[in-house]
Amino acid sequence: MGPVQRLKKDYPWIKTPLVVGAPMRLIALADMAVEISRAGIGFINWGASLTASIPLIAAYRPAAVWFFAPSSLASLAEWATQTRAASPETKIWVQVGSVAEALDAVRNVKPDVLVVQGTDAGGHGLVRGASLIPLLPEISDALRHPGGGGDGGEGEEGEALKQDDTPVLLAAGGISDARGACAALTLGASGIVLGTRLLAATEANISRGYQAEILRAQDGGQTTVRTKVYDQLRGTNWAETHNARGVVNRSYVDAVGGMDEEENRRLYEEEMGKGMRGGG
Ligand SMILES: Cc1cc2nc3c(=O)[nH]c(=O)nc-3n(C[C@H](O)[C@H](O)[C@H](O)COP(=O)(O)O)c2cc1C
Repeated sequence: MGPVQRLKKDYPWIKTPLVVGAPMRLIALADMAVEISRAGIGFINWGASLTASIPLIAAYRPAAVWFFAPSSLASLAEWATQTRAASPETKIWVQVGSVAEALDAVRNVKPDVLVVQGTDAGGHGLVRGASLIPLLPEISDALRHPGGGGDGGEGEEGEALKQDDTPVLLAAGGISDARGACAALTLGASGIVLGTRLLAATEANISRGYQAEILRAQDGGQTTVRTKVYDQLRGTNWAETHNARGVVNRSYVDAVGGMDEEENRRLYEEEMGKGMRGGG
């Protein structure tokens, strides 16, 4: 069965080409999930607490769960095992940013869907990454001939995977219109994921100041940056392997200008305290 047939079998309500709304922590909440689900597919995002999440997966039996940036390969495998035990019909999606991550995930978790995330993506991703143009075909080839890459686990002798063990590939990162979607399909994806594009949606749980900045930003390579500054200011502790792409704002300019981190955090919190009016 080809990837598009598999998608239609696993999620009979979808239309193809598949367009998926990315999980965006604290932003893609119920309003956006409902609007997007009307157009296509159900998902839940992955919270950090396995013990809190498994009973919810067992109770609500989502069509799919989406895993991203696990603390270790072993923890990813544990999430997958417990999810399958709690809800065998739930499909497992894993977002990856490199060939090695893709092979590790496929060997250890056998995901139904691999979301291939290129470095143009908004939000978090690998510090050392690649754009979708080289990454998608390389992952697609590596899955067909999985020798090399990965962590050197079993089955690395270059044996091709059985077709049903090969995950469906979706593309994420820098796609905001039909041209980007078509390009991703040409590269070998069976569907696409939109994150940043949906920050412009009414249903996005972000301040209007933040939303206005997203809409104002043009020439993205110049007006956005991959950095750890925003995590430092928010106190979110991501591993050294990850940073995040965000709009260049006053906090970033002050940080690289040498402002004391505590003072910068105070200004950030002051802005956040303005609620929906803030974030500009
Ligand atoms: C504001 C924002 C928050 C995000 N939060 C998450 C998240 O909580 N979990 C996750 O797996 N990916 C998250 N992502 C990354 C998306 O899954 C996806 O890779 C990315 O949005 C795709 O690139 P695009 O933003 O250019 O469309 C986030 C992205 C953005 C823009």
